[in-house]
Amino acid sequence: MSKIHAAITAVHGYVPDYILTNQELETMVDTNDEWITTRTGIKERRILKGEGLGTSDLAVPAVEALLKKRGISANELDLIIFCTTTPDRVFPATANILADKIGAKNAWGYDLQAACSGFLFGLATGSQFIESGKHKKVLVIGGDKMSSITNYEDRATCIIFGDGCGAVLLEPNDEGNGIIDSILRSDGSGVPYLHQKAGGSVKPATHETVDAREHFAYQEGQAVFKFAVTKMADVAAEVMERNQLQSEDIAWLVPHQANKRIIDATANRTGVTADKVIINIEKYGNTTNGTIPLCLWEWEDKFKKGDNLILAAFGGGFTWGSIYLKWAY
Ligand code: UT7
Repeated sequence: MSKIHAAITAVHGYVPDYILTNQELETMVDTNDEWITTRTGIKERRILKGEGLGTSDLAVPAVEALLKKRGISANELDLIIFCTTTPDRVFPATANILADKIGAKNAWGYDLQAACSGFLFGLATGSQFIESGKHKKVLVIGGDKMSSITNYEDRATCIIFGDGCGAVLLEPNDEGNGIIDSILRSDGSGVPYLHQKAGGSVKPATHETVDAREHFAYQEGQAVFKFAVTKMADVAAEVMERNQLQSEDIAWLVPHQANKRIIDATANRTGVTADKVIINIEKYGNTTNGTIPLCLWEWEDKFKKGDNLILAAFGGGFTWGSIYLKWAY
């Protein structure tokens, strides 16, 4: 009997309507379109407006459209893994909140926190439940309302982030397609360079932490850039090498969208030509857990059954990783 792989059988995404352009950011902080475009590749990002809306509200339309597309009901889901750095609340898990909103009565679920690498960590863990035979339908969501932790007085970070969400369904595949290999890494010594200072158990919220704007993402951009640019490229090359894949064997490179220059470095290191590199950073900026599933969603029509895809990410933690998968439909 051939090995069971966990294959993506449906993908969908959602971005909110409000477009925050570089021009609008020029009115908020001391920046300009030319600097943002040349340093990051970003032109605009989406923002979820409205009182009382959180990351689960980005996921609901993505997941409902995905279920419709696949022709299944929410009650058929076994497991929901919600990869996010901006959960609706510290607890309970956003996966639980989402399950209630979409009416998934038979699923259990949990949130997964690995910053920008979260969706890859989620795919890797979700696939284990399929490969083991424990579950038949695992929903993996990557989404963030980054605007909820972005300091719009800090020009070095507010120009990068945006809100968005994507979701995939994992199901068993016995044709040799699906998730073939993954290399995932983490290094907690990266904490000083990218983190949220307050709001956790180390430094719970106080009036002082709010006044000091410590509930926003803090990033030392250059330090993070240096790690990201080598680690993401190295790990993508490593997963290719381990699977005897040459650049010409790769149909699509799907990099985390943090900075166009980091994406270009990964493409150069893997030898994948520009026409096969998926980039939508100019429209959405860095949606953290959302970038890779949003790319898969937008390029879904171009994928062919059996296509070799290399996914790669780097994020706070530090966390990084790469996944090799064969598209299943
Ligand atoms: O998502 C996963 C993890 N995150 C990443 O992978 C992000 C990695 N880092 C980056 O993408 C880049 O470091 C940034 C885009 C965040 C910043 O770009 P940079 O080229 O590293 O800029 P920098 O921080 O070295 O700043 C260069 C200059 C500084 O001015 P001086 O000191 O040279 O006079 C900054 O003050 O650019 C200035 N600057 C800006 N100028 C205009 C910083 N932000 C801005 C801005 N507009 N928004």
